Amino acid sequence: MHTNGQNIIVSGGSRGLGLHLVSQLLKNGNKVATFARTRTPEMDALDKEYGDSFHFASVDAVDADKVNGFVAEVCDKFGGRLDSIVNNAAIGQDQLLMHTDLDTIQQIVNINIVGPTILIRAAIKRMMLQGGGNICNISSICGSRGYAGLSVYAGSKGYLDAMTRALAREVGEAGIFINCVAPGFFESEMSSVLRPEQLNTIKRRTPSGSLSNDENIFKVVDMVISGTTNMQGQVVFVDGGITS
Ligand SMILES: NC(=O)c1ccc[n+]([C@@H]2O[C@H](COP(=O)([O-])OP(=O)(O)OC[C@H]3O[C@@H](n4cnc5c(N)ncnc54)[C@H](OP(=O)(O)O)[C@@H]3O)[C@@H](O)[C@H]2O)c1
Repeated sequence: MHTNGQNIIVSGGSRGLGLHLVSQLLKNGNKVATFARTRTPEMDALDKEYGDSFHFASVDAVDADKVNGFVAEVCDKFGGRLDSIVNNAAIGQDQLLMHTDLDTIQQIVNINIVGPTILIRAAIKRMMLQGGGNICNISSICGSRGYAGLSVYAGSKGYLDAMTRALAREVGEAGIFINCVAPGFFESEMSSVLRPEQLNTIKRRTPSGSLSNDENIFKVVDMVISGTTNMQGQVVFVDGGITS
């Protein structure tokens, strides 16, 4: 029940979870395109290893013209179809709201809300014409549970959860499946702001006793976009049970 032979776009694949998703999806025999604002050495390495099955461009997720152009470019390069997208690009927050300046609030809203919406809109137009597709939005347990210092970020993930439910009712009839995967905290540049004692507290409160890792999350994302599950409009937690 995993992806193979699909054409897939993953946003924010230059590092962190996105890089792991891109690498594993390529390994499984898919063609994968990704974008981020900055090209990393890992993108050069994947280019070398996978050639025409891989595509990277420097694109800001909030630039609608660039994102639309990227989707068109990828479809041309990969032979027309766009089977799945994974909305992974996002930025975090590490500040109480009263200390968060307006620029930061607007940046989080733009990148975490407007960005994925632009990519989804571009993708569903193509998916409707081709008779279906799969969309996976990377949300967070913060979209459903409170965590101090993450109020705007949490709101942006709650938006993804809510728009996923609503959009499932708009696009389901066209054969498009849209779901969220909501990880708990995992190690990356984004979560590096957490202090060791905060991480220990999270681990202690997690029934499985360990934080999720990139591979745990990949397994669920891969299932969600496999097109074999009939899951629609759902938010799936990958968090060792901390939200249970
Ligand atoms: N880390 C956690 O504990 C955690 C927990 C739950 C959910 N999540 C979610 O998991 C996903 C991946 O997080 P991560 O921890 O792997 O983050 P990360 O290491 O900070 O990577 C974020 C990726 O998104 C890209 N990105 C950010 N802003 C962008 C923009 N405006 N346009 C294009 N690309 C952009 C980054 O590249 P550039 O900066 O070069 O653009 C990078 O490739 C996110 O949706 C996050 O909210 C993370």
